[in-house]
Amino acid sequence: MSRAKQLYDWADTRLDLDDARTFLGKAFPAEDSFLLGEVALFCFVLLVLSGIFLGMFFEPSTSAVEYDGSVQKFQGEEMPEAFVSVLHITYDVPFGMFIRRLHHWAAHLFVASIGLHMLRVFFTGAYRNPREPNWIVGTGLAALAMGAAYTGYALPFDEFAATATSIGYNLTISVPLVGDFLGQVVFGGQFPSSATIPRLYFLHVLVIPALIAGGLALHMAILIRQKHTEAPRDEDVRTADRTVEEDDDSVIVGLPAFPNQAAVSAVVFFLTAATLSALAGFLPVHNIAHYGPNDPASTPALIMPDWFLMWVYGFLKLLPTWASFTVAGVHVSGEFLGGIVAPGLVFLAIAAWPFIDRTPEPTHFTADPLDRPWQTGVGVAAVAFVMIASIAGMNNILADKVLGTTTGVVNPVLTAALLLVPPLFGGITYLLLRDDGGTAPSDENPDGVADPEGGASDD
Ligand code: HEM
Repeated sequence: MSRAKQLYDWADTRLDLDDARTFLGKAFPAEDSFLLGEVALFCFVLLVLSGIFLGMFFEPSTSAVEYDGSVQKFQGEEMPEAFVSVLHITYDVPFGMFIRRLHHWAAHLFVASIGLHMLRVFFTGAYRNPREPNWIVGTGLAALAMGAAYTGYALPFDEFAATATSIGYNLTISVPLVGDFLGQVVFGGQFPSSATIPRLYFLHVLVIPALIAGGLALHMAILIRQKHTEAPRDEDVRTADRTVEEDDDSVIVGLPAFPNQAAVSAVVFFLTAATLSALAGFLPVHNIAHYGPNDPASTPALIMPDWFLMWVYGFLKLLPTWASFTVAGVHVSGEFLGGIVAPGLVFLAIAAWPFIDRTPEPTHFTADPLDRPWQTGVGVAAVAFVMIASIAGMNNILADKVLGTTTGVVNPVLTAALLLVPPLFGGITYLLLRDDGGTAPSDENPDGVADPEGGASDD
């Protein structure tokens, strides 16, 4: 017996490698849009790696220290240590600026690819029975990704980011009854106080990444257990070891996990890393030397959250000032309604969606969005809603720089657009697809159930 075989047998008796080999032969459908989830996954890996590098130089403290570095205008000035350490990373640490930019772009691509992945799953109906649990886990991951980006935004403690982050503080303390307690937990009390940056840093580098890693492990475990959905086949498919009938959804036809799918995933990983490296090489990020350190006595002319939180900011901007009330001595503010209740309802509606578009029978083939008039109509309406709310988040720029008017003029128009345009777009989509011969919801569920041991490979 060769040494290699001896080693294999030794490991096999302990780790049941034959079982792992069965897993490595499992089929993955060769579908390009399924790679969006992988892009999100690889962004997370790159975020962790670049974050470890940054963590070696970042100082989570607002104590004043004297600056001694390459930026002449701050030379000898006393400034918050967090701000000084990010200046140091950007201008003095070898590769520091590159890694900081890579971390920034990876965060943006992470959120963007999660959004696109979610739309892919939505429009192809991949959330239907039995995949509702993974849709719910995914919704939680989307919220956590936004939380990770938000807590990171504040860390350099520059004037722009600290002011933008203070919006989150005001929303947190606006929660009736428990607002002050939540303000203590998330921000360490007053904003900004000496406890704020250490608290946000702890959430950003440990609590939220750990929750994302746990959520991802669950997401992947459910995916492996249930297997992927697969696009409907045009005809029976001949694979290496069998013929799979066109409408047999108990087996998946695709690439074996190893080596084929692993090679595809490796290409996706390197393409993601290369894209982020190119972005980091050419596109600057948040220029903290320009904004200067946080100054509690002043407010920058323009305050803005990142693009993916702009829709929440839009709710805050559009909510009328009279929209607050007091019930039984408990004050419910407009900030709470626009910044916590409204986005909370959006996430709740997303999580509940598979139970609104309920599918009694397990469904393992993806659907064509053009065959699902009302579901696609709802999706189009939802995208329009988020877009208009995001434009409302930039109402001052729209009014001042684009239309040469005031926010008092554009706000009623934006409110009307937010309420009317989504149902209009959704309705037109529904009518167009229905007239195009789309199927009713009850016609589209193939009857089969998944074979837990199934999986045919087509290599
Ligand atoms: C950190 C964020 C996320 C990562 C890294 C991630 C990753 C993945 C990957 C790699 C897959 C398999 C390939 C694919 O279908 O694209 C997948 C499948 C899936 N994901 Fe996500 N996902 C995330 C967030 C979400 C969100 C926000 C949702 C929906 C609300 C979601 C719902 C699903 C569902 C239902 C499947 C099974 C799809 C099928 O079988 O066709 N995921 N995810």
